[in-house]
Amino acid sequence: MFENKCILTGVKPTGKPHIGNYFGAIKPAVELGHQASRFNLFIADYHAINFMKDAEILQREIKEIACIYLAAGLNPKTDYFYRQSDIPEINEITTILYAFTPKGFMNKSHAYKACVEKNLADNKPADDGVNMGLYTYPTLMAADILAMDTDIVPVGKDQIQHVEIARDIAGAVNAYYDRDLLKLPEYVTANNVSVLPGTDGRKMSKSYNNVIPIFEDEKIVKKAVYATITDSKPIEEPKNPEDVFVYQIYKCLATPEQTAEMADGLKNGKLGYGHIKAMLLDVILEQTRDAKAVYDYYMAHYDEVRGFLEDGAARARPYAQRTLQRLKETLFG
Ligand code: TRP
Repeated sequence: MFENKCILTGVKPTGKPHIGNYFGAIKPAVELGHQASRFNLFIADYHAINFMKDAEILQREIKEIACIYLAAGLNPKTDYFYRQSDIPEINEITTILYAFTPKGFMNKSHAYKACVEKNLADNKPADDGVNMGLYTYPTLMAADILAMDTDIVPVGKDQIQHVEIARDIAGAVNAYYDRDLLKLPEYVTANNVSVLPGTDGRKMSKSYNNVIPIFEDEKIVKKAVYATITDSKPIEEPKNPEDVFVYQIYKCLATPEQTAEMADGLKNGKLGYGHIKAMLLDVILEQTRDAKAVYDYYMAHYDEVRGFLEDGAARARPYAQRTLQRLKETLFG
């Protein structure tokens, strides 16, 4: 579907994902990437330090996110899997891009704007807690994308603006020198991605405290599943499945037959909340069993993962070197 195209995506290490992230974003991202001829997936560690300074936590989160993508099917031999900080040309390209980036773009960038709005709402100075890394975030992100001659960036809605900024900056550079120095990226919105509801029926999100964790011990997963909110209707009272949060999560993960079975049982008053929670737990454990084994293996053998990341950087780096060289030759001769 994306033949002869490069798909690139960056992930910030920001704490252990939950099943909503895994089934809603991580796995679909890897599957989409595998439709392209070249799939770059990198860990945005320079972006991460704008938000997380504690080195121990940062390193743990990098390790977890790397192992999670491997568990989700990333192929470290054929995909380009690397850390942003292993490709110094990205930072050199960023410096060049700064010269073509209107300050107004950064003022308008929503990550920064959201911070300012929150500060003002809290009666704090507009730029309270804003560091330059956050302020210039979209320029580094543009360099991530443009360095690799990326065709397509799969994004959630919140990242569209960033890809548009990357396009605009690339367009400005190309127009100034009247040459195709940088490839203009496009975004695809991952609208096939389902939003998994959480244990309270709202979107599953850490900030709502309604998540079901992934790759944890069965006991921990079970505790979260069984905490899913239900009412006090007795088993035999017929229920509309769409009103039952357990069912709403279940149908995102179960087969159509399994889903129909739970729906019928609820409608007919044959399945109670205890039953359906057990069914949900089963399907989660079943659907994550193989991936968890891969995750656990790499968490325990992280040296292998480091090797993959180094190898990925070595394979990806020539793209960034060529991009930088094109720019430097044009600019400085
Ligand atoms: N900004 C992205 C996020 O917060 C992460 C990211 C950094 C990225 N560089 C990128 C995504 C380049 C796509 C392409 O999720």
